[in-house]
Amino acid sequence: MKGVVLFCVLPLVLGQERTFSWDGPGQTLAPDPINPCLTDQSSCGCCVMQKKKWELEQHLNSSMNSLEDLLARAQNTVRNIRDSRVAFSVALTDKRRCIGPLRAATNVVYQSIFINIGEAYNSSTGVFTVPRSGVYNLAFTVFSDAGSPGASLAVCASIRRNGVALAALREIYEQDQEDQATAVLLVQLSAGDRITISLQAGCWICDDQNHYNTFSGFLLYATE
Ligand SMILES: *[C@@H]1O[C@H](CO)[C@@H](O)[C@H](O)[C@H]1NC(C)=O
Ligand SMILES: *[C@@H]1O[C@H](CO)[C@@H](O)[C@H](O)[C@H]1NC(C)=O
Repeated sequence: MKGVVLFCVLPLVLGQERTFSWDGPGQTLAPDPINPCLTDQSSCGCCVMQKKKWELEQHLNSSMNSLEDLLARAQNTVRNIRDSRVAFSVALTDKRRCIGPLRAATNVVYQSIFINIGEAYNSSTGVFTVPRSGVYNLAFTVFSDAGSPGASLAVCASIRRNGVALAALREIYEQDQEDQATAVLLVQLSAGDRITISLQAGCWICDDQNHYNTFSGFLLYATE
């Protein structure tokens, strides 16, 4: 009889102990929405995954944003470069013609256009108006023909920035029938500067369809 009673009490004791250790004595926790791992073991794995997914999404979002930013800046730079392209190259004339000698220095008006990107060279005035501050490559070549052997030759010209000579070419001979000279320079120019080729008083230049006299310039890089 004693043995039977013991047998019946044992499951109750074991059952009680199991209930206590799992749920705590008589209390149940409300599920925690921030971190369900604390209260809801079954959704813990899902929560970690969701957190990782959110972090990944945030990382992708910020990467995407900075890439879009970089792209916009690069596109802007390319647009700036394209809009500020400046290059001109012109020759004096297409048919035989001499200019000079004249009493006073005169601006040479080059009328045969090879290229005029940016339209900064004006073929009515011979003036290259600097559209944008920067470092420019400028070059000019002058040619003259004395007309006959033994006649005197005088080719002299200067390249001017706002009327002030930057560089000059000078060839005055009696024993030479033809002469040609070239100057190339790199200069820092400001927007609005006027670049001209000035034929000095008493000198003359001649040209024909061979384009012996040229004037060229291009923007190497902008500095504004
Ligand atoms: C990521 O960007 C999308 C679209 O702009 C937005 O709906 C989402 O909330 C962002 N996610 C994060 C984690 O910032
Ligand atoms: C060239 O200069 C003349 C005289 O200043 C001016 O009338 C003309 O509009 C200019 N041409 C261009 C293309 O700027």
